[in-house]
Amino acid sequence: MASASLKLSIALTCALLLSSACQGLKVGHYKKTCPKVEAIVRDEVKKFVYKNAGIGAGLIRLFFHDCFVEGCDGSVLLDPTPANPQPEKLSPPNFPSLRGFDVIDAAKDAVEKACPGVVSCADIVAFAGRDAAYFLSRLTVKIDMPAGRLDGRVSSSTAALNDLPPPFANLSQLIANFAAKGLSAEDMVVLSGAHTIGVSHCSAFVSDRLAVPSDINTGFANILRKQCPANPNPANDPTVNQDLVTANALDNQYYKNVLAHKVLFLSDAALLASPATTQMVRDNANIPGQWEDKFKKAMVKMSAIGVKTGNQGEIRKSCRVVNH
Ligand code: HEM
Ligand SMILES: *[C@@H]1O[C@H](CO)[C@@H](O)[C@H](O)[C@H]1NC(C)=O
Repeated sequence: MASASLKLSIALTCALLLSSACQGLKVGHYKKTCPKVEAIVRDEVKKFVYKNAGIGAGLIRLFFHDCFVEGCDGSVLLDPTPANPQPEKLSPPNFPSLRGFDVIDAAKDAVEKACPGVVSCADIVAFAGRDAAYFLSRLTVKIDMPAGRLDGRVSSSTAALNDLPPPFANLSQLIANFAAKGLSAEDMVVLSGAHTIGVSHCSAFVSDRLAVPSDINTGFANILRKQCPANPNPANDPTVNQDLVTANALDNQYYKNVLAHKVLFLSDAALLASPATTQMVRDNANIPGQWEDKFKKAMVKMSAIGVKTGNQGEIRKSCRVVNH
């Protein structure tokens, strides 16, 4: 209990101070040890995102999935080994849908050339998620991302299944899930706005939203039925865009889609299940600039979840394996 409230107050302090003290994280953490790191990561992300915007969506989701499981510690990047055959990246929420690992590899290679052994994979994931948001928002969502995270040594498929919210979660489950990470209901509403970009596999929503009575918009549902099989399975599981209006733009269109019942998941529709969250959705949809502003702050808050310091972590040489 005491530790939960301590965690909460650290998260709160982090949200208030933003760029300064967040669990020992600091904006410009590598200023002396690797001054070019943020530019190097940004250039790699830019290359990939301008070739394929979907990779940018993947990087933002990768950051979320890293932070929610074992904290923001790069644990989602670890490959299976004989000793640990089921790491996070093979868990159902992550496999086969999570993408962007190749961007992190390329960024880590470039960073290691400039400053060997200095920059953690966890920080590269945070920078890359931040940079993807910057490019996909047409340079409007500009985040000062604090750094100083260490890489973890633990990665478990079961933990990912327990800690990541499923697409069929209802509002109280979503709020509880984010509260367990020190994030508020409003943070949850604001971060869900990331569903304004990228795709989903049909299997993530067909059974909850198309095969049973649901509040989904009829025209929208019919478009989805043309793109998805009635019974998606690993051999036949296409993807659809999450936002049919501005598919590759990180903007507040998601909230307009929620209000229009043109969203894929029960977890998206659930934002209208209480007056308080409904009002947040309306404000994010209607007040210009509000969502972008709140999203920047919520991303920084998320970036401080369960950060490892001292002997809790290491600077990995390769992002896919722990050091010997
Ligand atoms: C609130 C609870 C959330 C649930 C239940 C959820 C669930 C999902 C699911 C099922 C997908 C589709 C994956 C696929 O089949 O390909 C998805 C995609 C995505 N999610 Fe979430 N998500 C949540 C919150 C978030 C948050 C907080 C972020 C980031 C801040 C985020 C960013 C994304 C992005 C960018 C995509 C598209 C990925 C791509 O195109 O590769 N989501 N989400
Ligand atoms: C949300 O889901 C949980 C778990 O399935 C259930 O116990 C709870 O009653 C649901 N809440 C609402 C408001 O539907």
